Amino acid sequence: MAKFLALCAIGGEKILANELKKLNFNDVAFSTVGQVEFSGDDTSFYKSNLLLRTADRIFLRLGYFKALDFDELFEGGAKINWQDFFRKNTYVVVDKVRCNKSRLHSEVSVQKIVHKAICDKLCRVWKVFSLSERGEPAKVRIYIDKNFVSVLLDLSGDPLYKRGYRSLSGEAPLRETVAAALLQKMLYRRKTPLYDPFCGSGTIAIEALLYAHNVPPGIGRHFAFENLKIFNEADFEKVREAAVGGISTNCRVRIYASDNNSEAVATAKFHSKRACFVAENALKYIGGEGKLSAINFFEKDFSAASPTDLPELDGDEGIILSNPPYGLRLSDEDGVKEIYEKIPGFLDNFPRWKAGFICANPDFEEETGLEFSGIQPLKCGNLDSAFFFL
Ligand SMILES: C[S@@+](CC[C@H](N)C(=O)[O-])C[C@H]1O[C@@H](n2cnc3c(N)ncnc32)[C@H](O)[C@@H]1O
Repeated sequence: MAKFLALCAIGGEKILANELKKLNFNDVAFSTVGQVEFSGDDTSFYKSNLLLRTADRIFLRLGYFKALDFDELFEGGAKINWQDFFRKNTYVVVDKVRCNKSRLHSEVSVQKIVHKAICDKLCRVWKVFSLSERGEPAKVRIYIDKNFVSVLLDLSGDPLYKRGYRSLSGEAPLRETVAAALLQKMLYRRKTPLYDPFCGSGTIAIEALLYAHNVPPGIGRHFAFENLKIFNEADFEKVREAAVGGISTNCRVRIYASDNNSEAVATAKFHSKRACFVAENALKYIGGEGKLSAINFFEKDFSAASPTDLPELDGDEGIILSNPPYGLRLSDEDGVKEIYEKIPGFLDNFPRWKAGFICANPDFEEETGLEFSGIQPLKCGNLDSAFFFL
């Protein structure tokens, strides 16, 4: 059994753990914020990278040992059979070190020692004097916690929230992995109508579309493991084919998204078309066919929106899930205050709909005046946000 570590937004560990369990990975556990451990067979890295919706990155754990000084660190690093993972043209980088409550605390020194241990080992095994310093990098990360060193090999490359369909930028886009976590938190299901009234570049709506049609989130991108020696193209193709074969098309999905900015709506439409194109092409490639539903995008000030703007609702109630502006710049403060104050009136237009908002503005709750049934802190990147739900 190989051991893996998945990273996610701080606050999203439980949701990621549930996702891992549903995909039948073993030994799922989390004790450190933003990290979930799991184990699986040697090829689990194909499935986890391709299918997990809420993980930002997957690592293979190559070593776990105690190190109280640099000699022990070097020895532990040199024991790992790096030659089983790297090709001779691999450019090895120790890209990040984190030390917590440990005797070894200089992150720069730890980085240098581990890099030296890797180079020494590879030069010895391959009988060469130096290693490649060009080409596709393979990234190693070191976490030292209470003197125990985890040596981790990055299997993802670009973070997994980069699904591969996004080419235009928007105002403060949400991470796709966070959008996926919020959809799970709101218990979004295919048959439920979903509406995002501050859709920006479309992240929440597109993420919901991929989920509703069971599209593997990583289908349109490259992964770091494809450059490693452990990569077997035929095995990966089998996992990919099975995942693509699971895409369901021609089903009824009602997703609505609006914004008062016409450029944002155009960007969101563009991204959604690309996401559909990638999924439909992947289906064609394995001999299947079918279309994903179209998201209903429109331009509107949220405060004037009501269910009459949402075609084919047939009287059904659904979920409002949205990411209102933060207004963290001083100049925007008054504008967002006005927006937040109008949110209760907007929600009155949608009686009995469930609602959830992710927002990085600490005054959000107070200025909406709403009594949320739950507030869950979520840290995405450097931004401290919270998810407010009714
Ligand atoms: C934080 S961004 C949303 C980002 C989005 N979740 C994404 O991933 O791209 C907030 C959005 O609210 C929109 N907005 C601001 N005021 C609005 C209003 N009164 N009505 C509707 N949309 C508004 C902005 O144009 C912006 O696109």
